[in-house]
Amino acid sequence: MQTIETPRDMQKLAEDHRRAGQSIGLVPTMGALHEGHLSLIRRCRAENDVAIMSLFVNPTQFNRQDDLDRYPRDLAGDSGLAREAGVDIIFAPTVEGMYPQGYQTSVTLEQLPTRWEGTSRPGHFQGVATVCTKLFTICRPHRAYFGQKDYQQSRVVRRLAADLNLDLEIVVLPTVREADGLALSSRNVLLKPEERRQARVLSQALFQAQADVRAGQRDATRLHAAIEDRIQTAPLAVLDYVGVCDPETLVPLEKIEDRAVAVVAASFGTTRLIDNALLEP
Ligand code: PAF
Repeated sequence: MQTIETPRDMQKLAEDHRRAGQSIGLVPTMGALHEGHLSLIRRCRAENDVAIMSLFVNPTQFNRQDDLDRYPRDLAGDSGLAREAGVDIIFAPTVEGMYPQGYQTSVTLEQLPTRWEGTSRPGHFQGVATVCTKLFTICRPHRAYFGQKDYQQSRVVRRLAADLNLDLEIVVLPTVREADGLALSSRNVLLKPEERRQARVLSQALFQAQADVRAGQRDATRLHAAIEDRIQTAPLAVLDYVGVCDPETLVPLEKIEDRAVAVVAASFGTTRLIDNALLEP
């Protein structure tokens, strides 16, 4: 396994692999790897000749300095896990390498970021869209792998890849969960034991909504209220948002005609968690 630090070296290496007729898969990460990332890496490994994992805690997608400062980092542990899962190349640039002095270009989407995470974390999706576009042009992947856990992010990345004719396939894989349903997230390690125990209420509320829809509930307002009520049974949960919305546009729905997605965000202590579930009649 190779570790490459500069965008220029990475671009050159990717170009060499492309010229040799090899397919390239990219798993973009911010490190602190867990089983969710490893499922993306394994799929990337299976579907491509060359598996690249980028490891970059992207400062431009954090709207709070304290959140960036306490984001978990473990380069040595991550390298070991990446090697075991079959990564060929880790691309781990520095902040200065990605955003050198004088840097001033951003990628902005007009509609998808206007709600949910986009409202709660102003500038977040501009940071994500910009860094993903850069990672795609640097690593030159044929396929890039994302988790459904960050549902809105996966929609944003799909949209920008289509809008900018990036000629790569965006593969989105299901959320990996703990035994009690909590979605795996790099932030879970920041939860105190009682916060961790209560955090399972997020998936419980979402699973109940899935069951309600399967049982015939089509009223999005009622589903929304039921999810909210369930989350609020956890005394430590501070609810940010609940949305029952169109799975493509993320616009809130009144009635579920076809498919929908429920998205939630809540804080437990100082740790903010998000989750989502597809609601399919
Ligand atoms: O999901 C993440 O870890 C990040 O948002 C990503 C896609 C690596 C961009 O920094």
